[in-house]
Amino acid sequence: STITPLIAGNWKMNGLSASLDEAAALKEALDQQPAACRVALCPPATLIAQMAWRLKGGAVLIGAQDCHAAAEGAYTGSISAAMLKDAGAGLVILGHSERRQGFGETDADVAAKVEAALAAGLEPIVCVGETLEERDAGKAVEVVQRQVSGSLPDSLAGAAFSVAYEPVWAIGTGRTPTLEQIAEVHDAVRATLEQRFGQHGSGIAILYGGSVKPANAAEILKVSNVGGALVGGASLKAQDFLGIIRAL
Ligand code: G3H
Repeated sequence: STITPLIAGNWKMNGLSASLDEAAALKEALDQQPAACRVALCPPATLIAQMAWRLKGGAVLIGAQDCHAAAEGAYTGSISAAMLKDAGAGLVILGHSERRQGFGETDADVAAKVEAALAAGLEPIVCVGETLEERDAGKAVEVVQRQVSGSLPDSLAGAAFSVAYEPVWAIGTGRTPTLEQIAEVHDAVRATLEQRFGQHGSGIAILYGGSVKPANAAEILKVSNVGGALVGGASLKAQDFLGIIRAL
């Protein structure tokens, strides 16, 4: 296919300025031997500007982990998409399950954030994924298709974005779905994207996320309609993250 895969690291609420040494080590390794995909790091917002400075001139893209849906205004404690862009981010993770579960974000909230990201020139990585309860009830595909439909605004037509499938029960647990389960959901996401966006939907990278590590990356990245990975824990150390990037 012509899809350029994306491997993105989500540091979540981990990392202080000393952690930028890991980002710099990643950059140096990729300077020596370029990756076969796009590579991004999404640090906490406090590190974006410093990371942009340290990684300048390299191939590692920088992303944020959330943004506010409004362009600016009286939203104490929040950060706008334009601010993230201004700090040096090019991408933004939206609708991560930790935001949906911990902050009550709905599909409509996520769609509004996607609009804000696009308006600021940030490329969204829109996350979806079923809970264990939903999977056990046989509703994984239905839930994910509903989340994809509801979280993607029409303004994504023609825009650069990706979708990340992250089964909630696989995040940070060391448990991963079978390759067949991953293929089933990714195929369903692809169908939803094509139905919605036509040919543009055929070229959108669908990332898998949830306990991806060097040891399982190669087999997961080979699965039908898997166009990269969204990596949490294993993105904190350059060596682990490189092990995943080199698996492609
Ligand atoms: O955004 C990343 C995912 O939540 C996966 O996290 O790789 O630590 O399981 P994990």
